[in-house]
Amino acid sequence: MGKITIAIDGYSSTGKSTIAKQLAKSLGYIYIDSGAMYRAVTLYALTNGLIEGQIHNKQAIAKSLSKISLKFTYNDTLGYSEMYLNGTNVEQEIRSLEVSKYVSRIAEIKEVREMLVGMQREMGQGGGVVMDGRDIGTVVFPNAELKVFMTASPEKRAYRRYKELLNRGEQVTYEQVLKNVQSRDRIDSSREFSPLRKAEGAITFDNSDMGLQEQFERLHNYVMRVLESKKGAQ
Ligand code: DC
Repeated sequence: MGKITIAIDGYSSTGKSTIAKQLAKSLGYIYIDSGAMYRAVTLYALTNGLIEGQIHNKQAIAKSLSKISLKFTYNDTLGYSEMYLNGTNVEQEIRSLEVSKYVSRIAEIKEVREMLVGMQREMGQGGGVVMDGRDIGTVVFPNAELKVFMTASPEKRAYRRYKELLNRGEQVTYEQVLKNVQSRDRIDSSREFSPLRKAEGAITFDNSDMGLQEQFERLHNYVMRVLESKKGAQ
């Protein structure tokens, strides 16, 4: 059966990556976490003095892009790919609240988006890919056979993220995380380049009151329907 492209977009902490990973595994597809790429560029900017306080130097960040190498390497034990920034595994560091605080601002920079979208298209060439992010169905793969727009209430999302960060040993309060979620929603939806929007033809998927198993089954059904209709059209 021919492989399709699956684009999963939505607000932060809607659990896109958990479900996208699971879906990719069950289909034998590649999973690409496009947010990890924006996070890795943010980490680079933070560790190279391109962000000071609330100020980030857009021009310097755009200029430094040629010095940034991003690579996903599959980890057999974990069953998914991890992000390498200039040869170093940064999978843990890019998930910190510090990186989360700045990443939406870095993702607003036109040159950053252009470079990462180019890389994402290359990685997804030929289909058989599940990619999650904010602009996958609208910009990266507007012709994806299945587009999903994930959403959940800000409070549910903040609570999920809060638990995740606590498990990782970060010292955060629920209020801090909720504020971060709300501020990222605002920036992600209102930025000038490729703002977060529901793509044409995307299915809205509100998982506020859904467990993982139910989400997986529903999405898997959508995939099967697309594959069946593709088969029928051949
Ligand atoms: O999915 P995430 O929370 O790891 O994404 C981190 C940030 O990166 C998010 O605040 C917005 C940005 N992002 C983006 O602008 N476009 C994407 N395709 C993926 C992420």
